[in-house]
Amino acid sequence: MKIHHVGYLAKNIAKTEKKFFELGYEVESPTSYDEIRQINIEFLVNGDYRVELIQPMNEQSPMYPLLKRFKNSPYHFCYEVENLEAAVEELSGKGYTVIQEPEIAPCIEGRKVCFLNNISMGIIELVEI
Ligand code: NI
Repeated sequence: MKIHHVGYLAKNIAKTEKKFFELGYEVESPTSYDEIRQINIEFLVNGDYRVELIQPMNEQSPMYPLLKRFKNSPYHFCYEVENLEAAVEELSGKGYTVIQEPEIAPCIEGRKVCFLNNISMGIIELVEI
């Protein structure tokens, strides 16, 4: 499966994006606020590589515990799939558990995404292309 992006936790997107710019990244879509998860999200690109910066905006954000645990760091790969339901079913048969049911991601052009976890893999995201 092709990687769509790497999800990267940031305590402060304004500070972290500067460090990515120094390494050759550019803004693909500017920071937007996801009020459901209470996070700011920004997409950066560097050639074929895309990074999603995620900043929990308060301690009530469901993403905040991840930031506490991982600090500034990558924490998921997102893979492109043609059919989200079919891919989820296939991976469920390979030991993955759905940790966030399929939903529309307003920050990825309204595409359907789903998060899964496997004990030997950790968190992955699927996006329907
Ligand atoms: Ni993601």
